[in-house]
Amino acid sequence: MNNAKLIVLEGVDGAGTTTHSRELSRGLRAAEVQVHTTAEPSTGPVGALLRQALMGRFVVSSASGSVRPPNWTTMALMFAADRVDHCESEILPQLRDGVSVICDRYYHSSVAYQSITGGGPEAIEWIRDLNRYARRPDLTLVLDVPSEVAAERRARRRGEEIYDAEPLQERLCEFYSDLERHFPGEPIEHVDAVGSVEEVAERILARVKRLG
Ligand code: TYD
Repeated sequence: MNNAKLIVLEGVDGAGTTTHSRELSRGLRAAEVQVHTTAEPSTGPVGALLRQALMGRFVVSSASGSVRPPNWTTMALMFAADRVDHCESEILPQLRDGVSVICDRYYHSSVAYQSITGGGPEAIEWIRDLNRYARRPDLTLVLDVPSEVAAERRARRRGEEIYDAEPLQERLCEFYSDLERHFPGEPIEHVDAVGSVEEVAERILARVKRLG
C-alpha cells in the first residue's frame, strides 16, 4: 500500500470482524505496513454510553413508566456522534501521520442495524445522511457467513446484547448479503468468512494488499 488507507470490516454479529481486525493488523505489520486498529462503538465518551446501551444498562423510561433501550433514532444519532468524534480524535490524525487504520464496523453497521431495528428501508437515506461527514473508507470488506454459522459463534461468546435475537440476526444476514446496494460507488467487497481463522485471514490480507 502506497499511502495510508482506511479499511473497514463489516458483518453480522458472529461474522468475525473483531478477530479479523486483529489478524489483519498482524498481517500488515508483518509486511511492514504501519497500521492502527480501532473499533466502533469507539473508546470515546459517546462510545462508552453506547456500550452501556448495547448491554441494556442504559435505558429510557416510556410513558407507562417501564424502561427500555433507547429507540433506533436515538441509537442512530448516538452512533453518528460517536463516529464523528472517532474520526476527529483518532482516525483522521492516524491517517494524516501516514498510518493505515483498520476499523471494526463503521457507518454501514448504522445503516444495517438501525434501519432493521425500527427505521425500515425508508430510514436508510436519513442514516446515511447523518454520516455524510465521516471519512469514506478506501475499502470495506463484508465478512460473509451463513446465519447458522454466525449463530454458533455468537453462542460461544459471553454476555447478552440488545441485538442478539435470532430473527433480527437473520434479517441482518440478508441485509449484509448485498450491502453495496445501499452505498453506490463505494468500494465494498465480500469475503467468504467460513473456514479456519488462518484461512479467512489469508483471504482478507491478500485482498487488502492489492490496494494501490
Ligand atoms: P460489539 O459487541 O461491541 O462487538 P462485535 O461487533 O464484535 O460483536 O458490537 C457492536 C454492536 O453494535 C453490534 O451488535 C452492532 C452494533 N452497532 C450498531 O447497531 N450500529 C453501529 O453504527 C455500530 C458501529 C454498531
